[in-house]
Amino acid sequence: MTEAKIPLAGVLGHPIAHSKSPRLHKYWLRRHGLPGDYVPMDVHEQNLETVLRALPKAGFVGVNVTIPHKVAALELADQVSDRATLIGAANTLSFGADGRIHADNTDGYGFLENIRHAAPSWSPAAGPAAVLGAGGAARAVIASLLDAQVPRILLTNRTRPKAEALRAEFGARVQVVDWVQAGNMLEEATTVVNTTSLGMVGAGEFRIPLDGLQPGAVVSDLVYTPLRTRLLETAEAAGCIAVDGLGMLLHQAVPAFERFFGVRPEVDDELRRVIQP
Ligand code: ATR
Repeated sequence: MTEAKIPLAGVLGHPIAHSKSPRLHKYWLRRHGLPGDYVPMDVHEQNLETVLRALPKAGFVGVNVTIPHKVAALELADQVSDRATLIGAANTLSFGADGRIHADNTDGYGFLENIRHAAPSWSPAAGPAAVLGAGGAARAVIASLLDAQVPRILLTNRTRPKAEALRAEFGARVQVVDWVQAGNMLEEATTVVNTTSLGMVGAGEFRIPLDGLQPGAVVSDLVYTPLRTRLLETAEAAGCIAVDGLGMLLHQAVPAFERFFGVRPEVDDELRRVIQP
């Protein structure tokens, strides 16, 4: 009699040592008493395709992909979800019985779910959103905000052409604001999102003037080290609803775990303590 294989999943990136995904998925596996394992894999860009083609044969049901593989993984996939196509990158791959690769992107979902849990009264349609930054994370944020019926997005980035490129791609509801004017756009915004690394431990400090923040606005920082960034502390003092970035990391993993292991897990306070003590 052959022994039933336990389902395997993991995360591919380079570097990978700091990824919180293994701790997150292993917590849920334990919590739900499920067989399975989730392993970090340090994979160089030139080996991505070879590794991905080998994993289904080795018992993997799927993997998450992180920096620098999110765009290449989308291009290698045999099938791509609509939201991954819209974002232009993948973070979750699952393998069919024939080894075919299905690519999805749950970053935008995680971003919206995090705000909805932390600020249940949030209404994305109530007013314009101000988005700081135009990198990979901004793509997922912009795509999901537009999908959530935000009327307009005011987008600013230190390197303006990158913001212009996103505007060209996502259309007229996105307006580019010059980086030096970033403080002004906060006066109009009912949702504010920092997708830059400013405010993160070891990165530069957040210097944009914040006195334009409106009381009641929802201010979401994707940075989660530290959890309470200067942006969030200032926002709270100004009467805004501050939403930290850890929840996005946790919520984006929910659909991935469900796809890999067949159970939809909960994001609870204990998980937050396990991931960011
Ligand atoms: P991610 O996938 O996290 O979005 P990324 O694609 O490297 O990472 O994007 C990083 C974002 O942070 C960019 O918007 C970047 O601005 P530039 O396009 O001008 O590089 C922004 N960023 C990083 N360091 C910054 C700094 N010191 N000042 C202002 N913006 C910064």
